[in-house]
Amino acid sequence: MITLGIESSCDETGIALYHTERGLLAHTLHSQIALHNEYGGVVPELASRDHVRYALPLIRAVLQKADCTLHDIGAIAYTQGPGLSGALLVGASIACALAYTLNIPTISVHHLEGHLLSPLLSNPAPEFPFVALLVSGGHTQLMRVDGVGRYTLLGESVDDAAGEAFDKSAKLLGLDYPGGALLSQLAQGGTPGRFKLPRPMLHSGDLDFSFSGLKTAVLTLTQQHELNEQTRADIAHAAQEAIVDVLASKALSALKQSGLDQLVVAGGVGANQQLRNRLNEVIHKRGGKVFYPDLEFCTDNGAMIAFAGALRLAQQQGKKDYRFNVKPRWNLAEITY
Ligand code: KG4
Ligand code: ZN
Repeated sequence: MITLGIESSCDETGIALYHTERGLLAHTLHSQIALHNEYGGVVPELASRDHVRYALPLIRAVLQKADCTLHDIGAIAYTQGPGLSGALLVGASIACALAYTLNIPTISVHHLEGHLLSPLLSNPAPEFPFVALLVSGGHTQLMRVDGVGRYTLLGESVDDAAGEAFDKSAKLLGLDYPGGALLSQLAQGGTPGRFKLPRPMLHSGDLDFSFSGLKTAVLTLTQQHELNEQTRADIAHAAQEAIVDVLASKALSALKQSGLDQLVVAGGVGANQQLRNRLNEVIHKRGGKVFYPDLEFCTDNGAMIAFAGALRLAQQQGKKDYRFNVKPRWNLAEITY
């Protein structure tokens, strides 16, 4: 059975075909980064229009790559939320219209569930149960994952997400949006220890995070110093260190508190090399294992939606009811199985 996956929650149109026995057949992605660049952030209306422009050509492209036709598709999974409502509506309406004409079921997928399960696409894959550190542009959460659909929230950011902290710090340093990866590059030339930024809630005793104070601290540094190349790199280094320190320390505490030894890292910030180095170090020291999705599946993509859809379909979650709504704000704990 082949599941077509459609991801359109934000600024990437991701399309993929996942085969229940053969795995991922083909996937493709169109990023809108260049489109939104000059505005310093995602412009929702432009995002929706671009999804309209790219979704169908990309669906044709994956079918061609996998040497399939529309009639080989057995089900269509799409991101129902959370995300930008207009952008989500594009994916949902295309999925439901196409499924209706093909008379096949649709599966509405929670975007974060896609991220959570994406490490299972890699080899070696983690086994349930594990702790997942979800670090994207919109979310920072620690979840206990006991199986497909069995997620328990252990802790989350009370304000900005880790990706947001990267992006806002990057913006203050004059970098383009989204600045996470660019800040990380800049930080490579930074002087360790020149600046020390706060690590909010590091010792709060729970598994929650807070990152909104970081941008204020970065702003203060940018105002206090002349921003030459070295100082920008030093601030970037300090900002990355602060974020990585908190994420690694809380992830380790989550493993200790839950008595588990496997950590799965998902979401765009999971691409950060410094975070990976630190997590590898602290988790291995504890005798645990860390799993990361392949880099291309860390950030938003269609493969994770096709895959999560296929797993939910196996649990009889598909439906041939082509009415749809989207959920721009949607708590993962609210998904029903
Ligand atoms: O998961 P994702 O693609 O989209 C959301 O669902 O939000 O995550 C995007 C976030 C952005 O904030 C981006 O700056 C960040 O992931 N990101 C990184 C890196 N690559 C992407 N942050 C730090 N280091 C990176 N290498
Ligand atoms: Zn995402």
